[in-house]
Order: sequence, then C-alpha cells, then structure tokens
Amino acid sequence: MDSIVVRGNGPLKGQIPIAGAKNACLALMPATLLSEEPLTLTNAPRLSDIRTMTQLLASLGAEVTALQDGKVLATSCHGEINPVADYDIVRKMRASNLVLGPLLARLGHAVVSLPGGCAIGARPMDIHIDALTALGAEIELKDGYLHAQAKGGLKGAVHEMRFASVGATENFLMAAVLAKGTSVLKNAAREPEIVDLVQCLRAMGAQIEGEGTSDIVIEGVDRLHGATHPVVTDRIELGTYMLAPAICGGEVECLGGKIALVESFCEKLDAAGVAVEETERGLKVKRKNGRINAVDVVTEPFPGFPTDLQAQMMALLCTAEGTSVLEERIFENRFMHAPELMRMGAKIEVQGGHATVHGVERLKGAPVMATDLRASVSLILAGLAAEGETVVRRVYHLDRGYERVEDKLRAVGAHIERVREE
Ligand code: EPZ
Repeated sequence: MDSIVVRGNGPLKGQIPIAGAKNACLALMPATLLSEEPLTLTNAPRLSDIRTMTQLLASLGAEVTALQDGKVLATSCHGEINPVADYDIVRKMRASNLVLGPLLARLGHAVVSLPGGCAIGARPMDIHIDALTALGAEIELKDGYLHAQAKGGLKGAVHEMRFASVGATENFLMAAVLAKGTSVLKNAAREPEIVDLVQCLRAMGAQIEGEGTSDIVIEGVDRLHGATHPVVTDRIELGTYMLAPAICGGEVECLGGKIALVESFCEKLDAAGVAVEETERGLKVKRKNGRINAVDVVTEPFPGFPTDLQAQMMALLCTAEGTSVLEERIFENRFMHAPELMRMGAKIEVQGGHATVHGVERLKGAPVMATDLRASVSLILAGLAAEGETVVRRVYHLDRGYERVEDKLRAVGAHIERVREE
C-alpha cells in the first residue's frame, strides 16, 4: 500500500488543473445502459472509482473503452445485458447502485447487491427504493440483493423524496426517462452533478425540465439515442485545491474552476480571510492578509456547504485564530479525520454531529492514517502547513477521487512524494 510523504513548506505558487467530476462521471457512465447507441464522455477523470464502474458495466454486458489516456470514455450497450450487479464489485463502491434505475428502465428487471456500509455511514437505500417503487417497480431484498422488476414497464408518477438524496435522484431520473407518461420528482437533489446528468440525458433525447431546482419534470420517451457529453468540472477537487494556498500561503490558480460550483464554500473562505478571484482560466486563491479566522460550518445538500469539503475545511480551521464549530448534517460518522489531525497537534472535540476546533499556532508532522477519501486529502492539506514530515498511509482511499495528488501539489511548490510500500 502506498503512502504519501509531505513536508511543511512555504507559500505555494502556480496553477492546478481541475479534472472532470468523479461524482458526475459515476452517474453518467450507467446512462449508457439506457441506449443501444454509443455514449461518449469527454473530460473524464482518471480515477480508480472510474475503473471500478468500468468493471461493473462490463460485467453487465456494456463496453467501456478509455481513450486519450483515460480522459475520454467510449461506452456502448447494444448486446445481451446481464441484469445482476454482483456484490464483489458493488461492495467496493456504493455508486454501483446507480445501475439500478437504468437496468429497470431498459430491461424491466434488475438484481443489484446492497452496497453495505462504509467508513462514513450505513448508507441505506430506502430513498432509492421508495422512488423507484413510485414508478411501478416491485423491489424485494433477498440474500443482500435488491430484486427489482417492473412488470409491463415503468409508469410516470409524481414522487416526493423524504430527503434530497443525490443517488436516489439519479436513479429516479434514469428510470423515468423511459417510463410511460410524465413524472415529477419533488425535493430532488440540486447538485451540479444532477444538472450534468440531465444535460447528458437531454443530449440522448430525454425530455426533462427543472434540473438544479427541487422539482424536476420528466416526459417519458420510447427510446434514447447516443450522444457525446463533457463531464462537468469536479467542484470537490476544486474546493480541495483552493484550500492549499489558504492553508500554507502563496497564490494558486485552479484551472477550470467556477465560483458557481462552490458558492457557499467561497462564502466561508471569504469569512475565514481567503480571497477568491474568478479569472478567464479559473479561480485564483490567496490569503487576504496573512491571517485565517475561525468560522462555523454546517454541511447541507447543495447549494449549502458540501459535506465532501468538510474534512478539508477542518484542516484549515485547525490553525485559525479562534474556535470554529463544524456541524455534519449529511453523514452520521464523518469526523474520522479529527483523531488523525489531533495526532498532529490539533485541538478538536467531537460530540455526535459536531466538531469544535480550537485553533493552534502550528500543527506538527506525524504518521497518520487515511480512513476515507476526503479524510485522506485533509491530512495531506494539514501536512502542507505542519512543521516537519507527515506520512499519510493507505492512500488507496485518495486515488479513488484524486488524480495524482502529489504531482498536482508538487507543481505549485509543495514538498510531497508518493512512497511505494510493499
Ligand atoms: C453522493 O453520495 C456522493 N457520491 C457523495 O460523495 C456525497 O457525499 C453525497 O452524494 C452527498 O452529497 C457520489 O455521487 C458517487 P445521498 P450518495 O444519497 O448519493 C442518506 C465522495 O466523497 N440516505 O445524497 O450516496 C445517506 O446515508 C462521496 O465523493 C438514506 O438514508 O448520497 C446519507 O446520510 C462520499 N437513504 C445522506 O442520505 C437512501 O436511500 C446523503 O446521501 C439514500 C441516502
């Protein structure tokens, strides 16, 4: 298992290219199941999660070919389709559950393993099940698998979700596009990845309105055709790298970044003393006057502060002047980075969904353990500003969501390297 070694160093300077969004691509790829014609995704990120989704789609009978060094995914699904998404693949990545909606729409039945829990929470699927049941699917849990079928096909319906689940919204949309009649999804997720999926489905011939709002209207069509679609910029990778100059000074331009993707995050950075300027190439970030102020953060569904940036923001607030309170409202166990940051000298008290961070002068490098994707990158950010050397172990978590993080940070002056450990 690889480790990443990072040493605290001075200000960073230069540009970091931001890749296509992992969480958009993981919803776009299963859309290939909806049509016999090819779907080509450009600006695709080169990540292990994308390779896992490729494996899963191949097991279902779809073809995914990575072109141009993995930045273009040529997908197609015109042959025999296997309706079973096997536990061995699904357990590696929860997003595998996004084949449920398209398989039901295309075949009228699907057998998808429950993903099981993960480090940040139990990750149930009740909201997905309610949403697809509303479209006429019958779903039964047997031997850890969801057995779903829609005798006579799916039928349009009006459905309000109890919570604006991102994945359940995506499964509902990919089922409703081929259902008979009109569907309305209320309390839909509003994330940019949802908007991106709708734009791709529309390019394939779907009739959908309202993406980005809480109410999405879908007119079912008989079939979808192929399309070519660019994956939207990754707002979580963007926010992560915006924090690098915030944490250790200097000025970094994140290429491809747009304020609209990270509006609530930028408001918190502004309050913390970080200036963000939109240029024609991206977002330029630097400290306003050398000092970082404590700020309180509450994670919420988009357009609120993203839960996927909570761990990274905590790393910044560990050396802010004053006390910050972070409230995690999306996942039940998403403070595992806190004990690791405390090994570096951070002063953090965790009670349930709240973490209180008392700013300290400076963190000290230490060996730390990555526990989940975003926790691992928050430890690297902390290591950038800490005194001495930080060794982050189990960086396979990192490679799920960040392309070559050491190359991107080294390019702006960070002292960071990947060490292969047998
Ligand atoms: C997506 O997960 C993202 N993953 C997550 O990013 C992100 O943190 C999350 O949305 C919230 O923004 C992908 O897009 C692949 P949810 P998803 O359904 O769809 C509960 C990362 O780091 N819930 O909006 O699984 C659930 O347990 C990952 O890139 C139910 O109770 O998120 C959680 O507490 C981590 N029942 C909350 O809702 C359900 O049926 C949000 O889940 C579904 C969800």
